[in-house]
Amino acid sequence: MTKLLYIEASPRKDRSYSIKVASAFLDAYRLAHPKHKIETLDLWQLALPEFTSETIDAKYRILHGEQQTSAEAKAWEKVIAIIDRFKAADRYLFSLPMWNFGLPYKLKHFLDIIIQPGLTFNYSPESGYSGLVTGRPAVVIAARGGEYASSPAAVAMDFQLPYLKTLLNFIGFADINVITVEPTLARGPAALAKAKEQARQLAAAM
Ligand SMILES: Cc1cc2nc3c(=O)[nH]c(=O)nc-3n(C[C@H](O)[C@H](O)[C@H](O)COP(=O)(O)O)c2cc1C
Repeated sequence: MTKLLYIEASPRKDRSYSIKVASAFLDAYRLAHPKHKIETLDLWQLALPEFTSETIDAKYRILHGEQQTSAEAKAWEKVIAIIDRFKAADRYLFSLPMWNFGLPYKLKHFLDIIIQPGLTFNYSPESGYSGLVTGRPAVVIAARGGEYASSPAAVAMDFQLPYLKTLLNFIGFADINVITVEPTLARGPAALAKAKEQARQLAAAM
């Protein structure tokens, strides 16, 4: 069964613009694909493992082709469990707020866990880096208090979307559709209405 994994990164729930737009997307998606399964990963409810010294050592053992110690392997199991859940989907929806021009820290933590050698990317001296999460479309719904396409200076302040898209590309995503909800602080209702319409159209066309 086709599965869409929805990764939710705002803690504001009922008041969140990114979540409201994601909900509009999901309502339209359910209508268009009644047989698809939708799973939600709320990053504010998920117990993400700390990226401890053992976890980092476990990662470098893989990069250097060495055997992990039992403590490292134990730490690495928690990483593998999160990655297995992440990779067990055919389509992805991310919704996120901009925080301090970048990602909310829960999403950064999640990305630090899932972007791992041998699991979501590979490296070889001959061919360099290659992503392993391939052939799956992703939709990104990004809410921002300000407006980031209005001038070159504003574009340069946006470390939210370029960063997330770079990381998703790095692990193999090639088909990424982005919907922005902005400026939520100055024109929230109008921004919301426009983004919801875009979300409904995108969901129906997927
Ligand atoms: C901790 C924090 C930091 C923020 N930093 C920025 C920022 O750097 N730039 C911006 O345009 N808006 C910023 N905002 C405003 C949010 O991006 C805006 O409220 C957006 O609607 C949040 O998404 P949400 O409604 O889905 O939670 C910040 C909000 C919070 C709570």
